[in-house]
Amino acid sequence: MSCWRPSPVATVAEVLVIGGTGTTGGRVVAGLRANGVTARAATRKPGEPGQVRFDWTDRATHADAVRGCSAVYLLAPVGEADPARLVEPFLRDALAAGVRRVVLLGSSAVTAETPGLGGLSRLVRAAPEWAVLRPSWFMQNFTGAHPVAQGVRDGEIVTATGDGRVAFVDAGDIAAVAVRALTDPEPHNTEHVLTGPSALSYAEAASVVSARLGRPVRHRAVSTAELTARLAASGMPADFAAVLAALDEDIRRGAEDRVTPAVEQVTGRPARAFATFVEEEIR
Ligand SMILES: NC(=O)c1ccc[n+]([C@@H]2O[C@H](COP(=O)([O-])OP(=O)(O)OC[C@H]3O[C@@H](n4cnc5c(N)ncnc54)[C@H](OP(=O)(O)O)[C@@H]3O)[C@@H](O)[C@H]2O)c1
Repeated sequence: MSCWRPSPVATVAEVLVIGGTGTTGGRVVAGLRANGVTARAATRKPGEPGQVRFDWTDRATHADAVRGCSAVYLLAPVGEADPARLVEPFLRDALAAGVRRVVLLGSSAVTAETPGLGGLSRLVRAAPEWAVLRPSWFMQNFTGAHPVAQGVRDGEIVTATGDGRVAFVDAGDIAAVAVRALTDPEPHNTEHVLTGPSALSYAEAASVVSARLGRPVRHRAVSTAELTARLAASGMPADFAAVLAALDEDIRRGAEDRVTPAVEQVTGRPARAFATFVEEEIR
């Protein structure tokens, strides 16, 4: 992968940010605006200036949301077994309406061959200009509504990852890469596997969090079957619980135990360390 140097922002007309109220999308909107680019934050319930109504399941909202935009930050429909069914007609219409560049938020755990979500990266490559972001697990899972954050509150993070390591990545770094991919004059036309600067086991991460909070937060490793049952018991649909638990099993086997230089190569600054995230965002 080549190195993208800081460069003047390209002449993008306006960017539609799908998931513009979410963890990465909210930061993408802020980053674009800070760079003088007009960003339209897509949400099912617009209530603020700069937001536009967009619902993957309501095709009538798509044309107005994307009209006048030259680029789209694309977050897949959440919890949809066959997301291409919704994304394919949206993309076809968006490209016909003048969108040239599409930046997809994928996942390090999803390749073009993965059933369902993998199909999206093939669709996005049909745009004249594109990038696929494949982040590892977010540092922000340790805050907010994620089961790991609940574990932090409970003092016990339960996973099926064993001693497997994850190079947790900061959502702000993902957004910074997205802003570059959306606005650089030269389209990236590539995949970026995004990680933080070091890989940690959940036990190691828990001990960093514990030291910050000044109270015990430990990690308990369970089997994949036990994690599936726990997630389902917490109200998650059983098939989705099984998918999430299987991802933990991949981590246990070492799938996320690697660090990439992509954040620094694209943004020109080092990826945020987990300890810095904890220091600044966990209290
Ligand atoms: N968490 C991780 O560790 C991790 C790691 C790798 C990849 N990922 C990927 O990251 C993605 C989630 O991104 P995120 O964390 O930035 O988002 P998020 O914080 O989970 O927010 C979801 C966003 O999607 C919007 N949304 C939900 N349903 C919608 C619908 N039917 N139509 C249109 N918009 C809808 C929500 O907007 P409104 O509610 O305002 O409508 C919200 O802005 C997932 O695809 C996941 O696979 C996550």
